[in-house]
Amino acid sequence: MEQRILGRTDRPVSIVGLGTWQLGADWGEVDESDALDVLSASVDAGVTFFDTADVYGDGRSERVIGRFRRENPSAPLTVATKMGRRGPQEPGEFTLANFRAWTDRSRTNLGVDRLDLVQLHCPPTPVFSSDAVYDALDTLVAEGAIANYGVSVETCAEALAAIARPGTASVQIILNAFRLKPLDEVLPAARAAGVGVIARVPLASGLLSGRYTADTEFASTDHRNYNRDGSAFDVGETFSGVDYEQGVQAAREFSALVSRELPGVSPAAAAIAWVASQPGVTSVIPGARSRAQAEANAAAGDVTVPPALDEGVHALYDQYFRAAIHPRW
Ligand SMILES: NC(=O)c1ccc[n+]([C@@H]2O[C@H](COP(=O)([O-])OP(=O)(O)OC[C@H]3O[C@@H](n4cnc5c(N)ncnc54)[C@H](OP(=O)(O)O)[C@@H]3O)[C@@H](O)[C@H]2O)c1
Repeated sequence: MEQRILGRTDRPVSIVGLGTWQLGADWGEVDESDALDVLSASVDAGVTFFDTADVYGDGRSERVIGRFRRENPSAPLTVATKMGRRGPQEPGEFTLANFRAWTDRSRTNLGVDRLDLVQLHCPPTPVFSSDAVYDALDTLVAEGAIANYGVSVETCAEALAAIARPGTASVQIILNAFRLKPLDEVLPAARAAGVGVIARVPLASGLLSGRYTADTEFASTDHRNYNRDGSAFDVGETFSGVDYEQGVQAAREFSALVSRELPGVSPAAAAIAWVASQPGVTSVIPGARSRAQAEANAAAGDVTVPPALDEGVHALYDQYFRAAIHPRW
């Protein structure tokens, strides 16, 4: 699996990483042995980058990764976690004292003295332009609690604000065939600044696998059931914020495009490979709920994307999503 340097962390990470929200909560039940299986299948397939957060299952995802690391001390892993969503979503909460408390808890959960990378977890927009916040993050690095910091954002404007700060090592943003806006400014700015880009939700919460129909039902504990209206968190995190039925239709056309241009490759693998092929992307982090998904996703690291697939993705986006998505995020 190809490795790329993750921005200012100077650490090599696989172009296909693993998102581990599924190993915490919000996607229906994934038991601990399945969670460990997803981690080991990924590492066996060449994945060296896991993305987690302190809120995924209130620390469960971090603790499973901590256990995996203990049991596999020689696995060459970089683990990115996130902080900032355990309390009220107010700019005044983003203080050095809270950062210390939050990162201490993540260090315990992950079983490490120093976190490889901690990302602000989609905080309120003013946080991205607060000098005091970046000063506090620099202090955490100086104290040795974290090796690097980055941000996870909802909007391109937030990404650009963070990229302009000299200490920002990486930006995590939604980028997939249904969400193209980061290609306009965020990727070029990140490349120019040497900031890593972690592309999340590459399958539009599974839509781009082409498996769902208008009748597909999701468990009551799955955000694809309870957050379609954005009542629990930003609606952009669920199916990338696209209308579900339009998404199913566009995914059908995406699958047809893939069978024409990349015969023998699954739509999910093609969707991941397309994201990884965009200049400026460091690592793509599909979430997986099973060993089979983790293996299939890692295999996308070997898929070469033909120009006709890229053109088809842009045409689909213009037809279905640009008008609703581009002005919003
Ligand atoms: N605010 C933030 O910072 C934030 C927000 C969202 C996500 N993230 C991170 O980004 C990661 C990825 O995003 P995501 O998990 O939300 O969305 P995603 O990667 O677009 O979709 C994951 C879902 O796609 C389906 N899937 C995965 N591999 C598949 C395969 N090979 N074939 C068919 N279907 C497959 C599974 O759905 P089924 O469950 O139906 O099988 C899986 O639960 C997360 O795990 C998390 O680490 C961060």
